[in-house]
Amino acid sequence: MIYSRITGTGSYLPGTPCSNADLIARHGLDSTPEWIVERTGIHSRHLAPAGVAASDLALEASRNALAAAGKEPNDIDLIVLATSTPDYIFPSTATILQDKLGMSNGAAAFDLQAVCGGFIYALSVADKFIRSGSHRRALVVGAETFSRILDWSDRGTCVLFGDGAGAVVLEASDKPGVHATALHADGRYRNILAVPGHLHGGQPTGDPFLRMDGQAVFKFAVKVLAEVAEEVMAAAGMTAEQVTCLVPHQANIRIMHATAKKLRLPVEKCIVTVDHHGNTSAASIPLALDEAVRSGKVGAGDTALLEGVGGGFTWGAAIITL
Ligand code: UT7
Repeated sequence: MIYSRITGTGSYLPGTPCSNADLIARHGLDSTPEWIVERTGIHSRHLAPAGVAASDLALEASRNALAAAGKEPNDIDLIVLATSTPDYIFPSTATILQDKLGMSNGAAAFDLQAVCGGFIYALSVADKFIRSGSHRRALVVGAETFSRILDWSDRGTCVLFGDGAGAVVLEASDKPGVHATALHADGRYRNILAVPGHLHGGQPTGDPFLRMDGQAVFKFAVKVLAEVAEEVMAAAGMTAEQVTCLVPHQANIRIMHATAKKLRLPVEKCIVTVDHHGNTSAASIPLALDEAVRSGKVGAGDTALLEGVGGGFTWGAAIITL
């Protein structure tokens, strides 16, 4: 039986932290640092400087993950990169990353778009490629420059997001690794979180900024995250007691704590980086996982429950042993 296993993690945050006070002053927002902290748990976020693209963030995160796994870029035979803020309409950010990594081995590479659910989707897809025997060593990346799609006059959304990237090396193994994953989507909810614009004749058409019904998203997230976590634990034949840590999508501390409570997991088991990352969409889970690994909060043999939810709506979970 072939399984997949994470053998290295890496992440990257651009620039210096931008505090709530700095953001409010920079954009003249009708808000306060206290409101943002109380309603979201966010104190600061990183914003990519002009000219820095998702592939640049992905490159640094990937180099860190490869170094942790003791692998060279040409050892990789599959890149799955989750992003909703790609460098270009095409080619994919995955192939741009492949070039920037100096790869020349013809590895498969593609982007995957499931917004904040993107990393779980990418991990699940790469796991299935490896379990099938078609590929042996994948780079799974979440990379975002959400600051590029924010309306800085909309205080209800622009304070929530940040930029960054996280990556893992996923290798074939005779032991799991990834025990189980679960993926879901429901397009009926596509309008509660969207960037409802596109390019037409060289011009943006529609609305090119992120729009969100925050309360609807909040309720949806709490409901499906608990459900999908239960589903994936059942699929793996595991219980909450066996979970060393919960690595949820980092959108709002209140969503994370509500989910942990529903799962009867102590909040201390919840990895929290939203306070200094903000919501980095597809990058948030691998960023949080890498921070937890590098700080020694989790390590070899620990079992982590990863879960994400985002525009589409998409949601999913994975249960892994490191
Ligand atoms: O990545 C996946 C997607 N994202 C999420 O998971 C986000 C889910 N939603 C949320 O996290 C929360 O709904 C928000 C943080 C976005 C908003 O928190 P809330 O407690 O649901 O606030 P609200 O939308 O009910 O707004 C309450 C008040 C409103 O004012 P009025 O109408 O009561 O006068 C808002 O206009 O807070 C106001 N408000 C703000 N006030 C100061 C909204 N944003 C701000 C702000 N500063 N930045």
